[in-house]
Amino acid sequence: MAITIRTIEDSELAAWLAALQVPFFGDGDTERQAEIRRGHIDLARCQAAFDRGTICGTFRSWATELTLPGGVLLPASAITAVSVLPTHRRQGLLHRMMTADLAASAARGEPLAILIASEYPIYGRYGFGRAADHVRLDIDARGARFVRPGSGSVELVDRAVVRELAPGLHDRMRRSQVGSITRSDLWWDMVLGLVEAPFPPARGTRHVLHRDAEGRPQGYLRYHVEETWADRVSTSTLVVDELLALTDEAYARLWRYACEVDWIATVKAEDRSPDEALPWLLEDARAVRQHHRSDFLWVRVLDPVAVLAARRYTATGRVVLEIADPLGYASGRFELEGGPEGAACQRTTAPAGLRLDAQALGAVSLGGVSLRTLAQAGHVEALEPGALATADAMLHTPVAPWCSTWF
Ligand SMILES: CC(C)(COP(=O)(O)OP(=O)(O)OC[C@H]1O[C@@H](n2cnc3c(N)ncnc32)[C@H](O)[C@@H]1OP(=O)(O)O)[C@@H](O)C(=O)NCCC(=O)NCCS
Repeated sequence: MAITIRTIEDSELAAWLAALQVPFFGDGDTERQAEIRRGHIDLARCQAAFDRGTICGTFRSWATELTLPGGVLLPASAITAVSVLPTHRRQGLLHRMMTADLAASAARGEPLAILIASEYPIYGRYGFGRAADHVRLDIDARGARFVRPGSGSVELVDRAVVRELAPGLHDRMRRSQVGSITRSDLWWDMVLGLVEAPFPPARGTRHVLHRDAEGRPQGYLRYHVEETWADRVSTSTLVVDELLALTDEAYARLWRYACEVDWIATVKAEDRSPDEALPWLLEDARAVRQHHRSDFLWVRVLDPVAVLAARRYTATGRVVLEIADPLGYASGRFELEGGPEGAACQRTTAPAGLRLDAQALGAVSLGGVSLRTLAQAGHVEALEPGALATADAMLHTPVAPWCSTWF
């Protein structure tokens, strides 16, 4: 019997969550999780694949806002909870759910779709490009002497205070941080352990609030410690779960707090920006080691005119892009004229300067990767002399985009 794909009813939410747990290796109480999520999930954007009435695939998207270069906020569809049971894999179910969801997004007028890929090769075929990376930093806490110590006060607070203040801090931060998205109330409740979550916070999580000289909150640190000893010497690691700072002073002060906790040998921070200022705050920048850099946010442009006209550009210029998109949404030839103050984009029949596919367009949409790099790797083709240099100077941004929100 054919497998059907449709959006789910409220009564199917627990079964949907139970199906999702299998490929994600979860084992939570899905009735309870359904209760928590009820009202927070838009069921009209929550698909399931059914095999004889049993759910064998899940897929969800939700409406968010993505920050583009220049601090421009654009509506985006955030895709999550993509899963297919091991018994039903590689039968085209992801393909069916993805194409249905992208079509619905395009029909709603969402110019972009975004996701985090569990495995690199899955989503390029759907026009998603690697747009913002994460790095993991390991800091030798005992060797970290701060030449810029930061100012303001730090205080240990309980999670109720963080729950009250951190969403506002994040909302201010994400409006200027390219690659950021919105966070829902449920996101905060889950991350802080106020409701049951598939990935609960670590035991012994601590929260530190930073205030400036006027007493205004300007950042917070959430961390836990993995305590280990060798020969009666502590080799413990402080794990930074989140460090969010609105000012340079708060940034320095919170990192210094993390490095100065007694017994800590190493501070480990995952999911950080590739452009972290931390090493430059230290007398010896080699105390900070970047252990890992990988893709995090993938972007799929559904409406090139809306996206290219909205974002700002590092240099002023004009270029005609020929975009190939197997799914059709971004296909065509587009004339882009823009600079730091604004841009215009329209379809054109003028000769193209560059040829690229939808995946490459997604990758450069936030400015995080150079068109030259993509051209070197064969993902972009220069058709006119000078076009690559012009477009690269326009699209590539001096500071890397960063999304600090798992979804
Ligand atoms: C990833 C997952 C959802 C794919 O579902 P699926 O129904 O097997 O995928 P499809 O059969 O629709 O595959 C569509 C295409 O993507 C390819 N593909 C799917 N998963 C892939 C993977 N992990 N790596 C490489 N290619 C993959 C398929 O080979 C197929 O290629 P084709 O069009 O050239 O034939 C499923 O394997 C899964 O649940 N994995 C574990 C959970 C997970 O990683 N979810 C994604 C979270 S971001």
